[in-house]
Amino acid sequence: MKPPVGIVSGSGINLLPLLDAVHREIPFHEVPGLPDGGVKGHICAFVLGECAGRQVVIQSGRLHVYEGWTFEEVTRTVDVLAGFGVERMLFTNAVGGLHTTLQPGDLVAADAVRAWPCARFSLPGELAPGFVLDRCSAVGTYVWMHGPCYETRAEIAALQHWGAMTVGMSTAPELARCSQIGINAGMVSCVTNVCGVQGPPITHEHVMVTASRASEKLCTLLRNHIPEL
Ligand code: HPA
Repeated sequence: MKPPVGIVSGSGINLLPLLDAVHREIPFHEVPGLPDGGVKGHICAFVLGECAGRQVVIQSGRLHVYEGWTFEEVTRTVDVLAGFGVERMLFTNAVGGLHTTLQPGDLVAADAVRAWPCARFSLPGELAPGFVLDRCSAVGTYVWMHGPCYETRAEIAALQHWGAMTVGMSTAPELARCSQIGINAGMVSCVTNVCGVQGPPITHEHVMVTASRASEKLCTLLRNHIPEL
């Protein structure tokens, strides 16, 4: 039998409808050495089950560096997934759209990941071609920012000038850990806000609501891709 696929859901995103069968649910606090998550909208647990005839482990919720967790703490979830036998992973997250064609609710595949201005972990850079999901609204570079503040207009202009597609505050540490331990991983992001346009300041609540509305579309996309992994 093929090894299970690991799938990680980000802020507001509900991927549990992906499961045709649920076998087991393990909250983070039951896993020795794993800190319990604290960000609103993240119910932190691993849910083992089946999707499209494939064994999957869904990690619902995650830890962030901006919450004060170290790289080792944030990425321990990757080691837990590896412990379940996962060799391939798909990460999801909420992002700001930097490219002017993007709209809230769009799903974007990452083909490269960068950290700005820098990170204490080493990123894989480009993602493996089989892990760049097709059938998305766009494909491009995801830039990780430490957070927790959303970007200033000057930072957005710099990131756009750089040619980045999306910006967010998660996933890059986990991708770095995946590459350290030989797990191939892809990433698909839900655009919750368009960066650099006039309007009210972006809030975490807005991010959560928009990501939650895109969950169904994201589940369809992942369900189509899982058998290919
Ligand atoms: N910036 C960083 N992280 C985000 C954003 C953003 O605009 N939207 C959702 N997560």
